[in-house]
Amino acid sequence: MNSVLISFLATALIFGAAVAVGFRLARSPKPYPVGWLGIHIVLFFLVAMGIGACMNAIESVTGSATMSIGTMALSFAGPPLIALFISGVVMLFGKKKRRAWIVVHKVAMYLLALSIGASGVFAVMRW
Ligand code: HEM
Repeated sequence: MNSVLISFLATALIFGAAVAVGFRLARSPKPYPVGWLGIHIVLFFLVAMGIGACMNAIESVTGSATMSIGTMALSFAGPPLIALFISGVVMLFGKKKRRAWIVVHKVAMYLLALSIGASGVFAVMRW
């Protein structure tokens, strides 16, 4: 297995774990359980690091002066990551669940999945 595939598989796995813990958090009333929340936030940072590792892996394999389509698709992960962080922090405040911010959080999650998934496919196809 090459480094690109390993980076994508590892990132996808961590992302999946973050989603699973997210749905666990969604089933909890407020205040959110600190343990699950801590794991969820640590997984967020690991996903961000994984995305960086994927970019490095793609660039070191393609090695061209122009940006590959795989890296380009992965750069679309930036805004959803920021949206996930901001909506995540906002959801922590107050006594009631913040429905609108939960929707923002979920949409950002789908966009992030799309960016990682599309980039993974492009990278494996060496585009
Ligand atoms: C890779 C990044 C992340 C992913 C993929 C992710 C995904 C999810 C998902 C799928 C849910 C369940 C939403 C629902 O069905 O209601 C969730 C819930 C939650 N997430 Fe995240 N999340 C991420 C980052 C963060 C961060 C950085 C924070 C906080 C700083 C955060 C805080 C929360 C909270 C508080 C909930 C519970 C919302 C509720 O009450 O329903 N998340 N997350």
